[in-house]
Amino acid sequence: KRNIIIDCDPGIDDIIALSFAIANEDKLNILGITTVAGNQSIEKVTSNTLKLISFFNKDIKIAKGQKGPLLREKCVVSKVHGENGMGDYELPEPKIQLSSDNAITFLRDTILNCEDMVTLVPIGPLTNIALLIKTFPEVVEKIELLSIMGGSTDVGNYTPSAEFNVWADPEAANIVFKSGIPIVMSGLNVTHTTGLYREDVDSLLKSNGKVTHMCGKILDFYFKGDHVNNGKFTPIHDACSIMYLLYPEIYKYRHMKVEVDCSEGLNRGNTVADVRDWVNYDETYPKVLLEVDSDKFTEILLSELYKLDNI
Ligand code: BDR
Ligand code: CA
Repeated sequence: KRNIIIDCDPGIDDIIALSFAIANEDKLNILGITTVAGNQSIEKVTSNTLKLISFFNKDIKIAKGQKGPLLREKCVVSKVHGENGMGDYELPEPKIQLSSDNAITFLRDTILNCEDMVTLVPIGPLTNIALLIKTFPEVVEKIELLSIMGGSTDVGNYTPSAEFNVWADPEAANIVFKSGIPIVMSGLNVTHTTGLYREDVDSLLKSNGKVTHMCGKILDFYFKGDHVNNGKFTPIHDACSIMYLLYPEIYKYRHMKVEVDCSEGLNRGNTVADVRDWVNYDETYPKVLLEVDSDKFTEILLSELYKLDNI
């Protein structure tokens, strides 16, 4: 089993990614979940995480992380994820409590106390991960992989050139991409084809299952965003980073150099990936996912969500 810690900002697609990971606990040993301000404030994303894990009756440890980016002011995206970060869907109050209100020391302790290597799955701004690397560099050699949702080799979403998670804290992303830790990057160039169709969400909505119905409700809200292709298909960005761990064979990728533009101005938060096909990079460079079997992705994600009604 792969040991993982998910660093997230739920966030509708984060909720789906967390649920998907929980559906695969036979393959993934979830050592903990850390939260970071991103889609909503740290209070809201942490509360959403507690509620979700409690809803699943799980006792996965949760630690609260940074309330804003390293250098800048925090900015939330209520239009995409709703005022509460969950498309205004209300989960019951949590019956569990935080294990720690310091995600950075929680990450250090959990990583160092684990007998084997640990994979981190950052699916929000990279603030916690950057602080972890800078404050406790001794963890670096115990991190097997960072399966990151962030960046893009082409178009952005928050700005024409920047993807939201990297845009939200480019200085942190820069530290992470320069850390030398093995990285798999699920950027918008691939996540724009990893998602669900309107019909899939309609079936979830009609479901009597406790989990699938909740997924249908929050995704129905998500379909109102302008990131949806013609109202027919919505990317579920964050699930891509979990899917890669479970089904790497459905992806095509190349190793490339990826640098983060931290300058002020139009390209702030752009991940400049060296896509020139005549330049070769070895395996020490980030593995950038380029293509996916999109139908397979949708099929697996959906069937795993339905499995959750029986746990
Ligand atoms: C990323 O930004 C957030 O809004 C999503 O949760 C995802 O992590 C996509 O750009
Ligand atoms: Ca996210």
